[in-house]
Amino acid sequence: MLNLKILKLNFLSEFKSLEYEKTRALFSQVAAQVQNKAFFNWTNDLIESELKQSHFLVLASEEDFVSFVAYREGLDFDEIIAIGSHNEHRQKGYAYEILKLLKEQAREASKKIILEVHEQNLAAIKLYEQAQFKCIGRRSKYYKDLADALIYQWDS
Ligand SMILES: CC(C)(COP(=O)(O)OP(=O)(O)OC[C@H]1O[C@@H](n2cnc3c(N)ncnc32)[C@H](O)[C@@H]1OP(=O)(O)O)[C@@H](O)C(=O)NCCC(=O)NCCS
Repeated sequence: MLNLKILKLNFLSEFKSLEYEKTRALFSQVAAQVQNKAFFNWTNDLIESELKQSHFLVLASEEDFVSFVAYREGLDFDEIIAIGSHNEHRQKGYAYEILKLLKEQAREASKKIILEVHEQNLAAIKLYEQAQFKCIGRRSKYYKDLADALIYQWDS
């Protein structure tokens, strides 16, 4: 297990920083590592625009950022836009840890958390279910490959 710290970041009003560059690098790495592009199809332009619109929780080692969740804040709920762990750091519990922190934050603010996931992204679905998210709906043919999106919600 690495010695990791948690960072809460937003770049909404910040000039670009080292943390911005590291978050963007991890986002790009995760996007490049995903085999099925329908699961996580983030171009550099999309990533750049998301960095300016989302809040981030990041797990970071001394050298690198290893796992992140990007989310938008609403009044009653937070919406997860993307979650990812670096290839070399997968299946070590890091994404689960990040979700735990996001849930603690949401619980304190009396908020729910919602998200959409590609119906065949089994790793992500298992992660959300393990983190006690419940499937509350489905959007038919939502993705470019005509797969459905499952809507998951967490409520304290
Ligand atoms: C989905 C993803 C974020 C999981 O990150 P991770 O850090 O490896 O996840 P964790 O180690 O915290 O795993 C927690 C649980 O998720 C499930 N899980 C994670 N990876 C899995 C896999 N490859 N296959 C099956 N279940 C998996 C397991 O239930 C796991 O618990 P367990 O290890 O006790 O069985 C990671 O695979 C990833 O970055 N995927 C590419 C990006 C993506 O598709 N994001 C989701 C859509 S935005």
